[in-house]
Amino acid sequence: MTLSPSPQPSPRGRGGRARASPSGRGRPSEARTGEGGSSAVLTQSSVLSPQSLAGRSLAEALDRALKGRRSVRRYRPDPVPDEDLSAIVEAARWAPSPHNAEPWRFLVLRTAEAKERLATAMGERWVEDLRRDGWSAEAIDKEVRKSHRRITEAPVVIVACLCAEGLDAYPDSQRQMAEYLMAAHSLGAAVQNIMVAAYARGLGTCWMCAPLFCPEVVVQALGVSNELKPQGLITVGYPMGWPEARQRRPMVELVIEVS
Ligand SMILES: Cc1cc2nc3c(=O)[nH]c(=O)nc-3n(C[C@H](O)[C@H](O)[C@H](O)COP(=O)(O)O)c2cc1C
Repeated sequence: MTLSPSPQPSPRGRGGRARASPSGRGRPSEARTGEGGSSAVLTQSSVLSPQSLAGRSLAEALDRALKGRRSVRRYRPDPVPDEDLSAIVEAARWAPSPHNAEPWRFLVLRTAEAKERLATAMGERWVEDLRRDGWSAEAIDKEVRKSHRRITEAPVVIVACLCAEGLDAYPDSQRQMAEYLMAAHSLGAAVQNIMVAAYARGLGTCWMCAPLFCPEVVVQALGVSNELKPQGLITVGYPMGWPEARQRRPMVELVIEVS
């Protein structure tokens, strides 16, 4: 299988890592369920059957995919077909990027060994962080085990990394930061492409932020160049079930009309 179309290659969600203490868990927004008040469970067949899209316009199909995608945190052990994995990574390639630099590389982990190495190394670092934050041993163990399970039980893990190749260099820190942020924004667009393309193939995904908090640990555990800056990982697989949609803010809160 050709996975690299180009030759270049929580707490805070890893259970909630940003929380200073376990009691900070469960932001109110996370408790909200249902889109527009609905809490209907979306099933794969109701959302994704090819028949359900037949005859629909591209816009309708796309809206359906954008709104139907969910973060999936439990997967069936079934493998992800090579052609689907290839297609979803290919989708990332078509994301917009500054100067068309495509400043991202994707590490694809399919073996149990690679996933275990990553989960264990990040878990060890996380234990240290949470101890410093004053968490109890019991709370740490629970969160770290959960994160470890989510990574090792996912059939595929994709680690999204920034890569400075092709980006502009500036002598001043303000413009350099802008350039870096542009690259990071475009990595987000590429990851979204991966998640939507996966969903369109009946696959679930979840973006996990853990690598962003210990990029050097990820690079070392996976034995890749330290020119790569891990930003997050995406778990991929067939969902145990499709989660309920989480509520979104009303449009009036998001859009500010300026005249
Ligand atoms: C940058 C980013 C980081 C995220 N990190 C995590 C994470 O570490 N763990 C997790 O369970 N979910 C994580 N998520 C998923 C969000 O919790 C999820 O997208 C949000 O709650 C909305 O749910 P939905 O994706 O099902 O619509 C992350 C999402 C983004 C965009």
